[in-house]
Amino acid sequence: MDNQIPKLYNKAPTPFVGQKRNFLKAFRQVITEHISDGGEGWTIIDVFGGSGLLANNAKHLLPKAHVIYNDFDDYSSRLRNIADTNRLLILLTEVLKDSQRGKKLSVEVKARIKAVVTSFNGFVDLQTLSTWLLFSGKQVSTLDELWQHTMYNTIRRTQYQGADGYFDGIEITCESFESLMPKHQDSDKTLFILDPPYVSTKQGAYALDEYFGMVQFLKLMNLTSPPYIMFSSTRSELLSYLDYIKEFDAKAWDKLGNYDVISQTSNINNKARYVDNMIYKF
Ligand SMILES: C[S@@+](CC[C@H](N)C(=O)[O-])C[C@H]1O[C@@H](n2cnc3c(N)ncnc32)[C@H](O)[C@@H]1O
Repeated sequence: MDNQIPKLYNKAPTPFVGQKRNFLKAFRQVITEHISDGGEGWTIIDVFGGSGLLANNAKHLLPKAHVIYNDFDDYSSRLRNIADTNRLLILLTEVLKDSQRGKKLSVEVKARIKAVVTSFNGFVDLQTLSTWLLFSGKQVSTLDELWQHTMYNTIRRTQYQGADGYFDGIEITCESFESLMPKHQDSDKTLFILDPPYVSTKQGAYALDEYFGMVQFLKLMNLTSPPYIMFSSTRSELLSYLDYIKEFDAKAWDKLGNYDVISQTSNINNKARYVDNMIYKF
């Protein structure tokens, strides 16, 4: 399995909130600068894999590395069912054909959408469906929750491409970071890629056994050791936490400190923007 090389993707094959598509340029540059010989001898673990986009890029660029994608949300089942998603897209495009794009759906049209989705005889990809019907960036955890929202016609105009080869050569796991990370510690050739849910934000689009809050964050910091690449934004407090340990916790600073940071601004939608950071230490 390790010998296969996946096709390189610039974005996740189907919508995934929080995917790091805007950070790929910096991510690619940092991993190829710090890891040589095609990744020979390295293990790279995308601990909070989400859409698997970072694992896909890592394996493509460093094909000799053993890359692990931790699929906590079972995103891979969404990819296996792209054909159903495309089928549902055709059915809903028909329902929406007389509704103006970007405009709120009438009660009647909303009822027809609901009827089509609830009687659909295939896989319903809730995250993708939300992007066709909800205001930009909004996500829900259940179909029931979806029906509570005001809906708009933001349906996608083209079919999704298949995701053939996306995970070629990549090992897929599904477990919490708390059990996964201890299995791979104590090697200076094990790179942790850490893109956890942001503390203090709505995490409705993700599969969560428990809300990723302060205690989870502290456990993660405890399990983290270099080499690592971590992502954070103005909405998370990672950089403030690192400032805190610099002042008050010399041991933790010794382990995690003296990192590099690459920052950039991203848009959630046309109203909200925030600064994202990639923090890394090799
Ligand atoms: C910000 S997203 C990662 C996005 C990913 N880097 C990408 O480019 O698509 C955070 C992910 O962490 C997952 N997650 C939440 N709690 C977790 C846990 N305890 N262990 C592992 N993953 C978890 C979420 O379900 C979500 O998929």
